[in-house]
Amino acid sequence: MTQNQEPGGGTLAQRMFGPQAGVYAESKVHIRDDSLDSVQRLTAPGFLEGSTPYGWAVDIGTGAGFTAFAMAGVSERVVATDITRPMLREAGRIGGERGLGNLSLSQNAAESLPFADGSLDLITCRVAGHHFRDFGAALDEARRTLRAGGSLVMADSVAPEDEAVAGWMNDIELRRDFSHIQNRKISVIRRMLADRGFEVAGSENERVYLWFNDWVARTKVAGEEAAALRRDFQGAGPEVRDAFQVGELEDDGDFLFSWPCWIFRAVKG
Ligand SMILES: C[S@@+](CC[C@H](N)C(=O)[O-])C[C@H]1O[C@@H](n2cnc3c(N)ncnc32)[C@H](O)[C@@H]1O
Repeated sequence: MTQNQEPGGGTLAQRMFGPQAGVYAESKVHIRDDSLDSVQRLTAPGFLEGSTPYGWAVDIGTGAGFTAFAMAGVSERVVATDITRPMLREAGRIGGERGLGNLSLSQNAAESLPFADGSLDLITCRVAGHHFRDFGAALDEARRTLRAGGSLVMADSVAPEDEAVAGWMNDIELRRDFSHIQNRKISVIRRMLADRGFEVAGSENERVYLWFNDWVARTKVAGEEAAALRRDFQGAGPEVRDAFQVGELEDDGDFLFSWPCWIFRAVKG
């Protein structure tokens, strides 16, 4: 077993992210992008009337930790949690380099958090929810572990409301990342939150801008599989090209596109 493998091979997410942890630690869109700026605006002390810095904050699906690091500045303690051990190793390494004394790490699934009922002030989650095996169970866990009035702040790529375009996006994502579960429509996420007694107190819409060649390299998709994905983007109809801002093909086979991203702050009632 290499350092980057989980015992027994692990879950789909562990098998995808374990070997690629170092790549995610260097990824510019993960280090900072508009969605992280949105998370910081939505979690700024004072965003909700009378709100102060947080006591206990937990970042779920933390990856190499960039959202947890941002929360370390506004919380007494931050626990960076992820299902994949090599990702947490990167988060610990980078957090150490940044001198963050209030950061700790925990390996666990978002669907099973090792925290007591009502014990947390804030839960954050960025670019990870679409990988969760059971997104509803992750929301249930957020509801269980947050105190009344505590907040869940999530940022993730979302599917357009048009069924065919949403299907195209999820199919492309799954071919590029075998651990992909689902990009949901905003209307679906809103319903799931409301069903669990969360109230959306603020939200922002952003785009995640991606260069195709980088994007496929991150999940080690190459050769004919990458070529087929490239053809499908470039040959897509106007409704898909518009929805995902698919750019012109460059000489090196690269092009820019973007996924819609929704960032929300939901308060536990
Ligand atoms: C793209 S990375 C997250 C990026 C990170 N949140 C950031 O802000 O840079 C997605 C992460 O989700 C984690 N993940 C996937 N399924 C999970 C689950 N069910 N529970 C917890 N983490 C999970 C993966 O291990 C991976 O580290």
